[in-house]
Amino acid sequence: MKLLIANIKELLQVRDKSIEILCGKDMGILPTIKNAYILIVNDRIVKYGPMSECHNIETDKTIDATGKLVLPTWCDSHSHIVYAGNREQEFVDRINGLSYEEIANRGGGILNSAKILGNTSENDLFEQSIKRVNQVIKMGTGALEIKSGYGLSLESELKMLRVIRKIKDSVPIKIKATFLGAHALPKKFKNDKKGYLQHIVSDMLPVVKEEGLADYIDAFCEKGYFSLEDTEQIMVAGKNYELIPKIHVNQFNAFGGVALAVKYGALSVDHLEELNDEDIEALKGSKTMPVALPSCSYFLSIPYTPARKIIDAGLPLALATDYNPGSTPSGNMNFVVSTACIKMKMTPEEAINAATINGAYAMGCSTDYGSISIGKKANIIITKEVPSYNYLPYAFGENHIDKVIINGIVM
Ligand code: NIG
Ligand code: FE
Repeated sequence: MKLLIANIKELLQVRDKSIEILCGKDMGILPTIKNAYILIVNDRIVKYGPMSECHNIETDKTIDATGKLVLPTWCDSHSHIVYAGNREQEFVDRINGLSYEEIANRGGGILNSAKILGNTSENDLFEQSIKRVNQVIKMGTGALEIKSGYGLSLESELKMLRVIRKIKDSVPIKIKATFLGAHALPKKFKNDKKGYLQHIVSDMLPVVKEEGLADYIDAFCEKGYFSLEDTEQIMVAGKNYELIPKIHVNQFNAFGGVALAVKYGALSVDHLEELNDEDIEALKGSKTMPVALPSCSYFLSIPYTPARKIIDAGLPLALATDYNPGSTPSGNMNFVVSTACIKMKMTPEEAINAATINGAYAMGCSTDYGSISIGKKANIIITKEVPSYNYLPYAFGENHIDKVIINGIVM
């Protein structure tokens, strides 16, 4: 199947396939071709260029993109999209003055979601979750990382991870799975954190590995959740099973989690709403991607990750949704990109780079995703007619997407 998209007003994020990460000043550059075409054969990008060079191309189908932009689909490297039920009552409680922490201390928060998930069948969990995945695909997400972490028992963590695998087998987008057993201390282990960590390491991890259920390992490194020592134990155990860390760190407090994650070769450190100079220093020269989750900051009214500080220090930055029922009930990467520009003072070029190429890096799939490159997967967004790419983050909340193409197929 040969698909030609012709008369593209501007083709964004055209890169050599070898470019896998953008740091510092390079994040401010978004290579584009005006009045362009792109040729897709089956599921891959095979050719692109200016319309003046689009001659004698035989196609099975042509899409006219006059007035429209074409860009790679978003790579959402951090989500908890598999969950059961919702937590809108906690949302109202927060409006009425309770904090996220106070709600968690009352047995709400993650434990609330764990309780609902424990009472939900694997099939039902799949049905609830796949609906959300199909929604985010329509919003332009073409690669998605999904975490466990609302199970908090062997049985329920496996249930979540099996649902993630079933999603992977059911949708055409790229899915990566992360084992987040250390998300919160379950009720059963209320006064026995050591025991729970041992349970994760000795009982959960071997099965997760044996069944090949996860690509990465995560822990919620935060006061009141898992300490540096706890997180280290999880990362060491993960390493024994060849699971690379991607760590929740610095959401509410900065106390050395970034340096620790870097030390263990974490692929990414995510959240970073609180970030100090030592954290920045630890990231310099490392291969660890900092990941900001602006819709979480928006929803919880907590600080935004200091993107300028990170980028101006010459570091890379990725953007992701954090889609989950407690802190971010939204999987809309378009909103993430807008919010990064509006609230974090990222330029549109930086935000688009952070949500595509750097997002792909943060979920270990940049060889095939994240840019318009010859040989990469044909995962593409065609926008509606818009004046410029700056208009995408500018006109926030508006749906700018005309078509989403995944593996060369119009969704
Ligand atoms: O990334 N911070 C930890 N985990 C999620 C929120 C979990 C929840 O509230 O359900 C997050 O924000
Ligand atoms: Fe998260």
